[in-house]
Amino acid sequence: MQKESLVLVEHPLVQHKLALLRDKNTGTKEFKEMVSEIATLMCYEATRHLPTEEVEVETPMALSKARVLSGRKLAFVPILRAGLGMLEGVAHLVPAAKVGHIGMYRDPDTLNPVEYYNKLPRDIAERDVIVLDPMLATGGSAVDAVTLIKKRGAKTIQFIGIIGAPQGVERLHKEHPDVTIYLASLDEGLDANGFILPGLGDAGDRIFGTQ
Ligand code: PRP
Repeated sequence: MQKESLVLVEHPLVQHKLALLRDKNTGTKEFKEMVSEIATLMCYEATRHLPTEEVEVETPMALSKARVLSGRKLAFVPILRAGLGMLEGVAHLVPAAKVGHIGMYRDPDTLNPVEYYNKLPRDIAERDVIVLDPMLATGGSAVDAVTLIKKRGAKTIQFIGIIGAPQGVERLHKEHPDVTIYLASLDEGLDANGFILPGLGDAGDRIFGTQ
């Protein structure tokens, strides 16, 4: 089993956009755009190690050696609702990737995730999977989503979030040490309601304007 790892993406563009996300005065339109743009940049980092192979292409001038992707195909799995906000941004980079959806909400009393929807690509076992959810709070939703995807046979799974709490990172590492976690920030912790502090509030509500 691969060693657990957390990658914090400290790129200035990501951090600048994250500052806008955190700001309570940022409205729905801009918030949604920023989530999508950060997702694109995070996906760029998370796909850094994809295997490539050498090919020959004919340029208008001469024959050239070039490199193309050679590994397994990708599948993106956003956790509804908030993960949906990241989908457009990552699909922009890898338009051929298939998309699965897992619907989960957190029970406000127990903070345990409740699954209400699950539709994954039929061939997910043959794909490398990237789970999307901007918030990794207690980690319950991410752990359950990865468990579900593994039950369908997928072997290589990564998690792209935006903000995480130490508790969530620890739990996902403990339950699924093979899953690399990509975040733009590791925040201080959680409040009594399981919200990340300082965080950015409720990502789903801010993306879809349902506050
Ligand atoms: C939020 C967030 C994550 C989850 C994180 O979803 O978008 O999916 O909570 O919490 P956890 O790490 O403690 O499981 P929420 O339940 O608010 O649903 P929504 O995305 O539909 O708003």
